[in-house]
Amino acid sequence: MVAHDALLQDARRAIRGVVSFEALEKARVEFLGRNGRIAGAMKKIGGLGEAQRRAAGVALNAVKTSIEKAFETKQKELIASQNAQLAKDEAVDVTQPGLRPAGQPATRIGHFHPITHVMRDLERVFTSMGFIVLDGPELESDYYNFEALNIPPDHPARDIQDTFYVSPSAKGGSASGGDWVMRTHTSPVQIRAMQRYGAPLRAVALGRVFRHEATDASHEHTFHQIEGLVVGEGISLAHLKGTLLVMLKEILGSQVQIRLRPSYFPFVEPGVEIDVSCTICGGVGCRACKQNGWMELLGAGMVHPRVLEAGGVDAKRYTGFAFGTGIERLTMLRYGIEDIRHFHESELRFIEQF
Ligand code: FA5
Repeated sequence: MVAHDALLQDARRAIRGVVSFEALEKARVEFLGRNGRIAGAMKKIGGLGEAQRRAAGVALNAVKTSIEKAFETKQKELIASQNAQLAKDEAVDVTQPGLRPAGQPATRIGHFHPITHVMRDLERVFTSMGFIVLDGPELESDYYNFEALNIPPDHPARDIQDTFYVSPSAKGGSASGGDWVMRTHTSPVQIRAMQRYGAPLRAVALGRVFRHEATDASHEHTFHQIEGLVVGEGISLAHLKGTLLVMLKEILGSQVQIRLRPSYFPFVEPGVEIDVSCTICGGVGCRACKQNGWMELLGAGMVHPRVLEAGGVDAKRYTGFAFGTGIERLTMLRYGIEDIRHFHESELRFIEQF
């Protein structure tokens, strides 16, 4: 027994002197390893008479448990001190000013992208008119992007030329709505909004949309839209026109002129397209307006009863208007940018003008 006590004392002393994980492991092998001192003591007990053997076994087991605990405690101490050291060595003072790259002027600070400026202004204008601001997924189901919007399976908008199908073989959609597309417009948020909030409703949704098309001065494959939806009793085309005029005057200035052309979108009836006088060339014709003095900016109309129903809204009681605008186009008109491709080029000389 005395020998066992000495063993415990030795182990405690060894553990106390340990300052690294390697040394701890070495000590552990020395005392608790297969050929370690505890194992050696166990073997010796085997040679004793039965009564003595039992008592010695109990005592040695108690010693073994104490040593194991001491190792465990030491291991925890080592981990804690290692973590404390890490926290000390790798501490970052996030309040420190950043390092300025060599040669850059002291006044150089970051700022918002022009698209972000316009998106923020749009949100401000619409929330001031009582609209809620919603989000929708960029990866959208065929059902929300097309079917619920009354876009039939053979509609050209579903063509693989225009739409990024996530599984190309799925072109054409299905009644089950099981196919996935990168949303081609923000209109699916109309359905999601009605399903979630019902009528009456005033909502806008801003976000990225994707189209499989060749780029030119006014077309991108990835761009932003703002969708607007108002549903209520007695909502008419006059409300649509009034709302859009407020928005366009706020964003583009009070001199802005608009023209409405009859147009067709399966999810509205009647449908209109709204052009804005080209602010870049003042209406005389330039690359951005394809030389005709007007820029196509907006699709809009009265929400089709089938779309109201897909959103769970009673089409006999409620009417609604909806519109969808390209935010890049709005931004181009606002700042006089003649080519949409500048927005994604990450060209500092362009970005720094805003
Ligand atoms: C639509 O996307 C309809 N969802 C709009 C709508 C909403 C109609 C609600 C009726 C009711 P359209 O494909 O015309 O329609 O696009 C709407 C606007 O997005 C265009 O007027 C234009 O401003 C912008 N736009 C369209 N294609 C591009 C493109 N490739 N690059 C940049 N802007 C684009």
